[in-house]
Amino acid sequence: MSRKVREIIDLVDAAVAAAKRAGAFLRQTPRPAIADWKEKGPNDFVTAMDRGAETIIAEELARRVPGSTIVGEELSPHAAREGKIVWLVDPLDGTTNYLHGYPQYAVSIGGLVDGELCVGVVHDVTRDVTLHGSKGHGAWLGAQRLAVSQVAEPRHALVGTGFPFKRLDLVERYIPQFSAVMSTTSGIRRAGAAALDLADVAMGRLDLFWELTLAPWDVAAGVLLIREAGGIVTTLAGAEDVLGGGSIVAGNAALHGWLLNVLNTP
Ligand code: IPD
Ligand code: CA
Ligand code: CA
Repeated sequence: MSRKVREIIDLVDAAVAAAKRAGAFLRQTPRPAIADWKEKGPNDFVTAMDRGAETIIAEELARRVPGSTIVGEELSPHAAREGKIVWLVDPLDGTTNYLHGYPQYAVSIGGLVDGELCVGVVHDVTRDVTLHGSKGHGAWLGAQRLAVSQVAEPRHALVGTGFPFKRLDLVERYIPQFSAVMSTTSGIRRAGAAALDLADVAMGRLDLFWELTLAPWDVAAGVLLIREAGGIVTTLAGAEDVLGGGSIVAGNAALHGWLLNVLNTP
């Protein structure tokens, strides 16, 4: 085994360990009372649990990968992506679901090596399931290799999405897209945790997914999983660099171009 492969395996192991520790913390600690929810912005809540999970992840990653940089949603969102290894961390993706006990939320950890997205780990907290992947070595659920779906007809497609609930200025743009997709596919699902939506595309449960505004830590891990599972992820403009924050369009190779076209048709 080459040194490079060994290094990537170590990074995957570190991210899996960190995500599982944070997941255990979220499962074992009682949910915060409404009085303890803090509103970061419109419809955007955060609690000590988000920060507690991120502290655990940061400790684990720093211990296992000394010198790596952590860009985490709650504790270091503005950290510069500097150094050989950079982690993009969402300690609790789907906070609104979590706060209500709606069982769809995740820990998401993406890893960049020399600026390239190389590692992705999504831990489904309530199901205690962990998906992992690394560039060139596939995306996995345990020993099962993930593959995107083979659905090739829009009318057969099940499509995931996220509402722009934190950016109500985008609703006017979003509604016509929603209408166009709903009238041409089998159905649309909005489950409320982007990392799990993307994982569902990688697993072939969803054929397509789009959302108008997502942060790098929401998507990094899921994007790696989808690409390793044979799918395509771009921005709404069709660009491959999706880690700048903004829109995401994902799906299998047969349908991704179709969705891009539908979403961009006024
Ligand atoms: C949110 C979730 C949600 C998506 C939002 C994200 P958070 O992340 O992924 O599904 O629609 O855009 O911000 O705030 O729960 O970590
Ligand atoms: Ca998130
Ligand atoms: Ca979050």
